[in-house]
Amino acid sequence: MISDRKIRVMLIVGARPNFMKAAPLIKAMNTSPFFDVVLVHTGQHYDANMSDDFFNDLDIPKPDISLGVGSGTHAEQTAKIMMALETSLVSSSGLKPDLVMVVGDVNSTIAAALTAKKLHIPVAHVEAGLRSFDEKMPEEINRVLTDRISDFLFTTEKSANDNLQREGVPQNKIHFTGNVMIDSLLKNQKKIDASKILEKENLEEKKYGVITLHRPSNVDNVGDFAKLITVSEKVAEKIPLIFPVHPRTKNQLKEAGIKTNAGIRYIEPLGYADFMKLVKNAKLVLTDSGGIQEETTVLGIPCITLRDNTERPITVEVGTNIVTSSDKDKIMREVNAILTDGGKKGNVPMYWDGKASERIVEIILNHFRKL
Ligand code: UD1
Repeated sequence: MISDRKIRVMLIVGARPNFMKAAPLIKAMNTSPFFDVVLVHTGQHYDANMSDDFFNDLDIPKPDISLGVGSGTHAEQTAKIMMALETSLVSSSGLKPDLVMVVGDVNSTIAAALTAKKLHIPVAHVEAGLRSFDEKMPEEINRVLTDRISDFLFTTEKSANDNLQREGVPQNKIHFTGNVMIDSLLKNQKKIDASKILEKENLEEKKYGVITLHRPSNVDNVGDFAKLITVSEKVAEKIPLIFPVHPRTKNQLKEAGIKTNAGIRYIEPLGYADFMKLVKNAKLVLTDSGGIQEETTVLGIPCITLRDNTERPITVEVGTNIVTSSDKDKIMREVNAILTDGGKKGNVPMYWDGKASERIVEIILNHFRKL
């Protein structure tokens, strides 16, 4: 039993979707007298509008360790994170954590989990068990492998529990605790409402749509990407679309020679509060992001997912999400339905209630206090 000192948890973040998951976990641990949090930023994302702006908006403390790995191929990026993190973990015995906590499914997630596990440090995976069953998605490989070596698997929806059970993960490792990304969304409502992004972009509530695209399967092939933009421009003829552009997508817009001065309004990536304000007041959202499928479900905003699958089926079963792939007819049918009668209505999934981080922290505390 750890009772004579605090439980040291090293929490790893690296890419944009990690930050809103980490923020409520850090807060919940720091509120308890029993935790000592060491925050590590791998540097997978490094532009201010992909990283620092989120630290500011979400009141995340400055990282204790910054690995500064930056971009690269999958192997380069994963290997650089592993090497730098291993050095941090072994160089100072005083820093050795009782637990390494990883969130989501990005390269930083698997790299940190693998490094910790090989040093015999227990690993907790927050947002475990999600499966798209599409191994062409880098995130699917990251998810499966991280789950395979994790000691604590915290899930957001029932499908994740089913997936993990089917894969043979012992029941006592799986904890259905809810959605920490939604903790951030609910806890930051005031800040989101205070954003002036609608005025800045001259937009009126419910009179515009938001589009985001960044999945390699949608943007890396310039032909497929250009087709998707053509469909989006058709949507923009019916309702104005605003498009905060991810850096990967920005590169591809240039590569594909797409004109960005007509139809869709392309803008730089936004911080957390501005982006959520945009989504909260939109008539509809078109996206290939995982997190946005979840956030629109909670906000009750119709979401059209421009992918062939989703690893978050609860957003379709219970929420406002519809998966259309890049099929023009399907997309236009759904857009027309939304513009005519408001589109699909939904409910909020179980445990997406703003208390997921507290449940997670409670489970970790009970575990280490009983050791
Ligand atoms: C990563 C995640 C993805 C997540 C996404 C959210 C993996 C495998 N993918 O994809 O799951 O949905 O983040 O944003 O981990 N770049 C910049 N500035 C930055 C970061 C990246 O310009 O701050 C550019 C670089 O050219 C880089 C490219 O974007 O090569 C892609 O970045 P990378 O982190 O490799 O993948 P993402 O597409 O961002």
